Amino acid sequence: MKILVTGGAGFIGSAVVRLAVAQGHTVVNLDALTYAACLANVASVAGMANYAFEQADIRDRDALDRILAQHQPDAIMHLAAESHVDRSIDGPGAFIDTNVTGTYTLLEAARAYWERQGCPDSFRFHHVSTDEVYGSLGAAGRFTETTPYDPRSPYSASKAASDHLVRAWGETYNLPILLTNCSNNYGPFHFPEKLVPVVILNALHGKPIPVYGAGENVRDWLYVEDHADALLTVLMRGVRGRSYNVGGGNEARNIDLVKTICGLLDRHRPDAAPHGDLITFVADRPGHDLRYAIDSTRINTELGWSPSVTLEQGLEKTVAWYLGHADWWQPLLERDGVGTRLGVL
Ligand SMILES: NC(=O)c1ccc[n+]([C@@H]2O[C@H](COP(=O)([O-])OP(=O)(O)OC[C@H]3O[C@@H](n4cnc5c(N)ncnc54)[C@H](O)[C@@H]3O)[C@@H](O)[C@H]2O)c1
Repeated sequence: MKILVTGGAGFIGSAVVRLAVAQGHTVVNLDALTYAACLANVASVAGMANYAFEQADIRDRDALDRILAQHQPDAIMHLAAESHVDRSIDGPGAFIDTNVTGTYTLLEAARAYWERQGCPDSFRFHHVSTDEVYGSLGAAGRFTETTPYDPRSPYSASKAASDHLVRAWGETYNLPILLTNCSNNYGPFHFPEKLVPVVILNALHGKPIPVYGAGENVRDWLYVEDHADALLTVLMRGVRGRSYNVGGGNEARNIDLVKTICGLLDRHRPDAAPHGDLITFVADRPGHDLRYAIDSTRINTELGWSPSVTLEQGLEKTVAWYLGHADWWQPLLERDGVGTRLGVL
């Protein structure tokens, strides 16, 4: 299959690109190369005959038309987005521009392309979204595909809006769509502004490890390579028009996650004092959702997908990867906003 992946130089998009190329698909990676992008994420496939890169913005309709006409993909996997909640608090405009207007522009370009092709049933527009669109859970319950949307941050509101647009294009124009809503990812190539890499890198540098509020917030952690596998499974076998929740089945409070990572570093890179001594509680994120948990029954029973690693196994691999890849993360620490507290009112 020939797949156009948007956002393929980012964290999850690059995992999708690497896996799709390894599975023998032809991949066109379309990415604007924002602050969050890193072409090193796809260096392992850059020279392959079944891989191409196009630097373009999903808000640029002319560029999208040209790239679609040139590469003639069988499917689009849409991952390009502004993705950091804290940045969405400081500057929501970029999130509306890219996540809402950009998705609209991509949908229109995809529709025009699909209609020019004669509206093939086999075409897919696969929109990759987040569990954050469902809002915040209390101590019990899990999100299913029918949980009402209740986004509470500019980021999750912009993703919810994009999900609605994608469904509307499926209903109104019959565009063959798929949606997935996934929980928090972690793993190799995670940009060093997100919780897991921040903990690893601050601990390695002997810097305070910031934990928002009391660290009670619960997330359902999914190893990024398992997510990429789920996405390609849905693309290949998902039912047109359907959405699938993707979770790791690994709920953890932030404070417990941070302590686990510190424990791994104590084993693999011992310091004079335990790394956990660096944990510092800081002001909470405004509107910080308490708990997300995913019910993955649909993707599990209908498509036979389940995660391959536990949180402990995935964190072990992730810590080992960061310890071995300073050449990857060192230059990223210089990027705008990295290492500073964002999203405080
Ligand atoms: N990270 C998570 O835990 C998580 C969980 C569930 C869903 N998601 C969703 O998965 C997708 C990928 O997330 P990620 O963590 O890999 O994000 P990321 O920030 O690491 O990567 C986003 C990529 O999109 C590109 N991009 C941004 N704006 C663009 C534009 N206007 N045009 C073209 N490219 C643009 C960036 O250059 C970057 O390479 C997003 O849609 C996100 O909402 C993420």
